[in-house]
Amino acid sequence: MKFSVVTLFPELVLPFTREAILGKAQEKGLLQFDVVNLREHAQNKHNKVDDTPYGGGAGMVIRVDVVDRCLQNLSPASEVIMLTPAGQPFNQKMAEELAQKEHLVVLCGRYEGFDARVETLVTREISLGDFVMMGGEAAAACLMEAIGRLVPGVIGDQESHEQDSFSSGLLDYPEYTRPESWQGLEVPEVLRSGNHAKLLRWRRDQALERTLKRRPDLLGQQVLDVDDTIALWRLGVPLEQLEKWGAPAAQAQKKIRRKGLVQNRPLEAAESSRLHT
Ligand SMILES: C[S@@+](CC[C@H](N)C(=O)[O-])C[C@H]1O[C@@H](n2cnc3c(N)ncnc32)[C@H](O)[C@@H]1O
Repeated sequence: MKFSVVTLFPELVLPFTREAILGKAQEKGLLQFDVVNLREHAQNKHNKVDDTPYGGGAGMVIRVDVVDRCLQNLSPASEVIMLTPAGQPFNQKMAEELAQKEHLVVLCGRYEGFDARVETLVTREISLGDFVMMGGEAAAACLMEAIGRLVPGVIGDQESHEQDSFSSGLLDYPEYTRPESWQGLEVPEVLRSGNHAKLLRWRRDQALERTLKRRPDLLGQQVLDVDDTIALWRLGVPLEQLEKWGAPAAQAQKKIRRKGLVQNRPLEAAESSRLHT
């Protein structure tokens, strides 16, 4: 897979393509990076890529003709992505979709951004979030990191990204390593017990609990089985809410009755209201 990153600051982007796992993936031929200096396509005396905005106002705007010339010099792309705070918010699903493509061109803006007509030259506009950076280079690095690691062979253990936050639809479960005890904080016993089935259930329950507490909006998009339903119910989520999320609430209720299970605690009002946001 190839990334062509179009930027006015190639030196900001290059280290990301040379170091760590992305650098190794390039050496192995799994990923290819082409960092393109937009200024080389200016074709004027002072290599100017920008101009003042029509209608006045602060700052400079990147010219559409310069971007067009630059894109025409690149090999055919599967997608041409413009980085802009006004784009679609980037997420794991988008990263998974883009990781299937052969060649991604990523346009990094600067100053006041691109002439609006650049929109006609791109296949999508992506934002990293509701904040404004000075340029697209850090956003391009994020895209390369998030998409590149999903390309088969780039990270050693395929399983490790399948269990990551968002890939499974839930936030990742907490991880621990040595020391076993640190300043009175112990590694949970189940992780040292060697009981694999218990360990898997604990991890799933932890992922459900973290997601419930930190990102309850993700739970409605999740396929929940009977044990997940019971785990969330024990954490205080009402069965009616679980049913709304498509969870097998009736089956869970039967199992709860049969086993005489009890809820750990009811949800507090603030927590409960977050379930509906
Ligand atoms: C100072 S910003 C331009 C902001 C633009 N005037 C606006 O308010 O939408 C310059 C460049 O940084 C990049 N950039 C800034 N914030 C970004 C974000 N949240 N996501 C993606 N790119 C961003 C874009 O490439 C943008 O063209």
